[in-house]
Amino acid sequence: MNIKTPKVIANWKMNLMPHQAHDVVENIIDLCPKASSDIIICPSYTHLYPLRDLIKDNIFLGAQNCHDKTSGAYTGEISALMLADLGVSYVILGHSERRELGPYENLSIKAKIRAAFNAGLQVVYCCGEPDSMREAGNHEDYVLKQLSSDLFDFELSELTKLSIAYEPIWAIGTGKTASPEEAQAMHLFIRNTISQQFGIELAHSMAILYGGSVKAKNAGILAFQNDIDGFLVGGASLDPNEFAAIVNVFL
Ligand code: PGA
Repeated sequence: MNIKTPKVIANWKMNLMPHQAHDVVENIIDLCPKASSDIIICPSYTHLYPLRDLIKDNIFLGAQNCHDKTSGAYTGEISALMLADLGVSYVILGHSERRELGPYENLSIKAKIRAAFNAGLQVVYCCGEPDSMREAGNHEDYVLKQLSSDLFDFELSELTKLSIAYEPIWAIGTGKTASPEEAQAMHLFIRNTISQQFGIELAHSMAILYGGSVKAKNAGILAFQNDIDGFLVGGASLDPNEFAAIVNVFL
């Protein structure tokens, strides 16, 4: 691990009822009294307002998506400005579960990142290859294409508000985690790519998080890798004990 403040993100996806959210987050806070990481809770939109009063010090709220426009006739959508107005600090963009919705989603990621930056939000940008690309040995090319089409048009100064989550699709919700060596190799590849494109300073200050079946039992060895600066946790973030144990590997 390096000296950046680690980030551990709870991606609840479409789980938990609004009335359960407060207790779950309070439990997490109680179980991580000495957390040295930033803890970012990303529930469904409906839970953001009731969780506002728990934001403090190293506890932040994040959303799982936002729209690329600020307002208008977009029935059912939520703008980045609306999230920021609610006290939300982060937004996850480019998650593979959203990219699977179709080409519009992939093509709108850059515009969503721009909208999030304009609203003052921090972005957790997700990338990662499907199983077939890893098996064919094309995983680096695949991730490079994602990075170049979604990020390369931004200014260096804008990207200080971006973290990258490497989430191999074959590891999400499958119980199959990337080995520490596989994850480290891809994180280093991502950092080198950012360095070549935007310079070494940004590359070194950028948090690169791992996501994909992170559990208490594998978090320690993954966190030990040089280029893993935190985690994006799905399933295990619904259980306060499990999630707190993941946060606490960074103590
Ligand atoms: P998982 O999900 O931890 O359940 O694999 C990670 C994610 O989708 O962000």
